[in-house]
Amino acid sequence: MIASPAAPCAFGTHRVLEPTGTLPQAAWRLDSTPVAHANELLCDVDVLNIDSASFTQIAAQCGDDPEAIAAHIRETVATRGKQHNAVTGSGGMFVGRIAAVGEARTDRATLAVGDRIASLVSLTLTPLHLDEILAVDVATHRVRVRGTAVLFASGSFAKLPDDIDADVALSVLDVAGAPAQVRRLAAPGQTVCVIGADGKSGMLACAQAKSRVGPLGRVVGIVPQADTPGARLLTAAGYVDDLIVADARDALAVLAAIPSALPALADLVVNCVNVAGTELASILCARDEGVVYFFSMATSFTAAALGAEGVGKDITMIVGNGYAKGHAEVALQTLRERPPLLAYFNARYGARS
Ligand SMILES: NC(=O)c1ccc[n+]([C@@H]2O[C@H](COP(=O)([O-])OP(=O)(O)OC[C@H]3O[C@@H](n4cnc5c(N)ncnc54)[C@H](OP(=O)(O)O)[C@@H]3O)[C@@H](O)[C@H]2O)c1
Repeated sequence: MIASPAAPCAFGTHRVLEPTGTLPQAAWRLDSTPVAHANELLCDVDVLNIDSASFTQIAAQCGDDPEAIAAHIRETVATRGKQHNAVTGSGGMFVGRIAAVGEARTDRATLAVGDRIASLVSLTLTPLHLDEILAVDVATHRVRVRGTAVLFASGSFAKLPDDIDADVALSVLDVAGAPAQVRRLAAPGQTVCVIGADGKSGMLACAQAKSRVGPLGRVVGIVPQADTPGARLLTAAGYVDDLIVADARDALAVLAAIPSALPALADLVVNCVNVAGTELASILCARDEGVVYFFSMATSFTAAALGAEGVGKDITMIVGNGYAKGHAEVALQTLRERPPLLAYFNARYGARS
């Protein structure tokens, strides 16, 4: 259905119920009424990809019980009109089909009802209405639903590619900012350290980093355990030069483990973990005047800022902006150009995984 309220806002403030005057991400509650205002896209949603930090927190709180997780998500969405985890502050993204295109959208000519798309903005700012939760997949953090979502004029999205399994594309698009930012930040000859290297964003970040630093550079991955298919692939395919097995929450253990693999500390550290308390390990892996990119949504700004000050590190710390120009294409291309990585993602996150 299409609606025409007075002056809908490009950022979606017309959907904010409380507190008024805030933008949708900061708002407590959104109006998720399933109609398309003039500048909006209304979508029928069938999958939510819950952000890893958020899902890990909800699953821990719910004892990994899919029914309890579903009830938690149902309650959040019913209360807030969006999937916004109050503990981690993070959301995820959705996949669905376009149900209606607002009459004032500038991209109207390129869109058709029925197009299958993935949102590239967070569920924390996306008006969401759930009719039903059909299944919760604890392994992939994917939730099958029947519902609707709204994208504002400022909300980016991608049409799902024809050549990549939709579930794989969803997993990759959720973390598209990581490989795109690494491609930007890493330079030939540098040392890059990726923490949480065998997760979705970590694997894509390592693969991009290795291509960027080249044969004279070095990519070091930090993983909690060595014997996982992801960790084995990182080494076998040459996406990392070294793998360190350490718990990134234990900064001193990481510090003790790095000298063998990192003769000089890293020019760039990329934090891709899904648990809290890894700021200091990231900071200690970086050389003086190096860069730490905190992609993880479990990052505490306070812990990072005060931690760096406390250990006397003059480093640049970058908040993990999930958006970078062209990030969806960079992320999908990272897979297309690396058949072993694509095969791994198909096996782990694909429809038949
Ligand atoms: N900035 C953004 O826009 C944005 C967008 C999407 C996601 N994110 C965030 O990015 C992070 C990664 O997401 P993802 O989807 O790539 O997650 P993921 O696939 O679940 O990967 C997380 C990785 O962290 C590892 N890890 C967990 N605890 C660790 C520890 N103590 N020490 C070392 N490694 C540890 C995990 O290893 P095991 O599997 O062995 O436990 C896993 O390999 C999450 O915090 C997510 O919320 C950010």
